[in-house]
Amino acid sequence: MSKQTLLEKLNKKMLACKKCALRATCQQVVPGEGSANAKILFIGEGPGKKEDELGRPFVGSAGKFLDEMLEIIKLKREDIYIANVVKCRPPENRDPLPQEATACWPWLLEQIKIIQPKLIVTLGRHSMERFLPNEKISQMHGTLVIKTIPEIGKQNFYTLYHPAAALYNGSMRETLIQDFKKIPKVLEKIEKPS
Ligand code: URA
Repeated sequence: MSKQTLLEKLNKKMLACKKCALRATCQQVVPGEGSANAKILFIGEGPGKKEDELGRPFVGSAGKFLDEMLEIIKLKREDIYIANVVKCRPPENRDPLPQEATACWPWLLEQIKIIQPKLIVTLGRHSMERFLPNEKISQMHGTLVIKTIPEIGKQNFYTLYHPAAALYNGSMRETLIQDFKKIPKVLEKIEKPS
C-alpha cells in the first residue's frame, strides 16, 4: 500500500477519535497535510482558530509566516508534511494539557512511521518536548539532534522557535528565519554525511 493510501486510512481514524476532551469543544479534527513522501515533517503544537475552521494546519498568521520562510528555502507546502502534536484545537488557544498530548501521541507516531521523514522539524517548545523532553528550546534551536525514539527508531530532529511566538518578537523572528535558512544544509548533511 502506498504511503498516501496509508495516510488517508490513518486520517479517517483520526477524524473519528474521541480519546480526549478536546474533540468536544473543537469544530473538527486537523490531521495534517502535505506530501506522504516528504523528506521533512514539520510538527507544530495544535490547531488554532483558523485551522479549526478550515480543517488544515498552519493556515492563520503563523501559517503565512511559515509559508514565507518555506519560500525563502524554495520549498512548497506540497514538498513537505505538516502535522501537530494535538489534532484538535485547545479552547481559547491554550497550551495542550499533558494528558491531551499523550492521548494524541499514537497518531503522531503513526504519521511518522508512515512518512519516515529524513528530518523532523519541531515548531515551538511543546513540539520539541515530545521528542527531546529534557532540553531547552533557547539552547536547542537551530541544531541537528539525532535521537532514538523507542517507537520510531533513530531519527533526526531540528528544533525551531514557533512561528506564532516569533511573529511579533523582532529578535526571535530573526533567529527563526536564520535557523530556517539552514534547513537545506541540514538535510544535505543527513543525506550525504561527509
Ligand atoms: N500553530 C500550530 O502549532 N499549529 C497550527 O496548525 C497552527 C498554529
